[in-house]
Amino acid sequence: MNEAKWSAVDNYIVDSLIDRDAVLDEVLSSSAAAGLPEIQVTPNFGKFLHLLSQVHHARNILEIGTLGGYSTIWLARSVPAGGRVVTIECEPKHAEIAKANFQRAGLSEVIDVRIGKALDVLPRIAAEKREPFDLIFIDADKQNNPEYFAWALKLSRPGSVIIVDNVVRKGEVINAATSDSAVHGTRRLYEVVAAEPRVNATTIQTVGNKGYDGFLLAIVNG
Ligand code: SAH
Ligand code: DHB
Ligand code: MG
Repeated sequence: MNEAKWSAVDNYIVDSLIDRDAVLDEVLSSSAAAGLPEIQVTPNFGKFLHLLSQVHHARNILEIGTLGGYSTIWLARSVPAGGRVVTIECEPKHAEIAKANFQRAGLSEVIDVRIGKALDVLPRIAAEKREPFDLIFIDADKQNNPEYFAWALKLSRPGSVIIVDNVVRKGEVINAATSDSAVHGTRRLYEVVAAEPRVNATTIQTVGNKGYDGFLLAIVNG
C-alpha cells in the first residue's frame, strides 16, 4: 500500500461520486494562483462535511480556518434557507480571496467572514450572544486546538457536533517525543477531549490525496 494508490483511489471516488463543480474548481484555481497553501480539505471530505451537516440539520455553523473558502462553501451549501456559516481567518489575504469566492458562489449572504486571530475573534462572537452553533469545524493552526475546542464547547449546545481536522498527522500523533508543535497541540487536544465529560468523541484515520491523517468527531452531551 502506498500513497500513489491512496491518491488513485481518492481520484476514483471523486470521479464516481462528486459532481464537477465550476465554482469549486474556480475556488481551487484562484487560491492556487494567489499562492495560498494547497491544504484545503479533499473534495470527498468536503462532501462528507456537507452530508454530515445535512444529517444533523445544521443551521448555524462555525468554522475556524477559512483559507480560500473551499470547505466553507461545502458547509454553506448544506444549510437551509436562513442558515449561516461564520468563518474565522487571520490572514487578510486569505480572507479577501475567500470573500471573492463566496461572491462568485452566490453565498455572500450566507457566509460571515471574521478576520483576526481566532483566539481574539472567538470571545467577540461569544459576546454577541447569538444562537449556539449546531456544527463547528476546527481547521486552523494546530497548536491552539485545545483552546479552540474549549471555545467550540462554549459556543455549542447539547447535540452540537464538533469536527477537528488533521488529528493523526502521518501517525506522528503517537510520537510524544516529537519537536513538532502541531503534534503537541494535537496531543493536548486528545487530553482535553478525554477529560471532558461534556463530550463523546472518536477519531477516524484517513488516507488519500492529502496523505495519511484523520479527523476527530465529538458530540456535545445532552
Ligand atoms: N478549512 C480550509 C483550510 C484551512 S487552512 C479548507 O479546508 O478549505 C488553515 C487556515 O487557518 C489558513 O488560512 C490560516 O491562515 C488560518 N489560520 C492559522 N492560524 C490562525 C489563527 N490563529 N486564527 C485564525 N486563522 C488561522
Ligand atoms: C496543514 C493544515 C491543514 O489544515 C491541513 O488540512 C493540512 C496541513 C498544515 O498546516 O500543514
Ligand atoms: Mg485541515
